[in-house]
Amino acid sequence: MWEYTDKVKEFFLNPKNVGEIEDADAVGEVGSIACGDALKLYLKIEDGKIVDAKFKTFGCASAIASSSALTELIKGKTIEEARKITNKDIAEFLGGLPKAKMHCSVMGQQALEAAIKNYLGEEVEEKQLEGEIVCECFGVTDEEIRRAIKENDLKSVEDITYYTKAGGGCENCLPQLEEILAEVRKELEQAQEKKPKKLSNVQKMQKVLKVLEEEIRPALQRDGGDIELIDIEGDNVLVSLRGKCTRCPSSQLTLKDFVEKSLQEKVSPQLTVEEANE
Ligand code: FES
Repeated sequence: MWEYTDKVKEFFLNPKNVGEIEDADAVGEVGSIACGDALKLYLKIEDGKIVDAKFKTFGCASAIASSSALTELIKGKTIEEARKITNKDIAEFLGGLPKAKMHCSVMGQQALEAAIKNYLGEEVEEKQLEGEIVCECFGVTDEEIRRAIKENDLKSVEDITYYTKAGGGCENCLPQLEEILAEVRKELEQAQEKKPKKLSNVQKMQKVLKVLEEEIRPALQRDGGDIELIDIEGDNVLVSLRGKCTRCPSSQLTLKDFVEKSLQEKVSPQLTVEEANE
């Protein structure tokens, strides 16, 4: 038996915004009754803002609660804001969903996307279906599977089935799901390796000092100036200009265009440089 949060129970027993908007500005439909879940979402949009949202769904308690939660989440939002809503937001709004029911939140996100495309005139034709069908039983494409893995950090084929339903029928698609999972996990790991590692305060201090001593100070000293490191507060490097630099009318340019740029390039792009009040 699934463990439902009180909010899921509340949104299932007393769903908000059930029904149809007759003069809807956008309609998004996903799923099919043959596959067990279907959702039709209606939006009323004024000046780019969603002023009303209603839904009709065929599905389990989680599908009803997720659809209802979605309508509550998007009312009052602009199209741009609504576009950023993910299935995670829907599940979080409900205080969580059983893992095996996460596909209901994904269905909500897909219906919203379809409705927004419909509003913007980007009709979702069958031929435009993103990707190729991998799971014939539930009509799930490789792109849907890739996206679910990336957005929800899925780590097993079982998780893919929970989030997309793919693999939950005849199981013929399981080898392909394994392949896609391995590919996407590899991509995610490579992206993680490329991310610059966050420096500790000591590392940051050491690197800033090294660049100052080896590159910045010698360059300034050649023109009779100099610079001293006073402190580092978070990503803000406080320095004091010395020698000719103190009287130079373009000292602020030196700080930003030379000192700050050098430190951003060699240490961290987040660094800013300011003159300390001594
Ligand atoms: S083809 Fe995926 S479960 Fe049947």
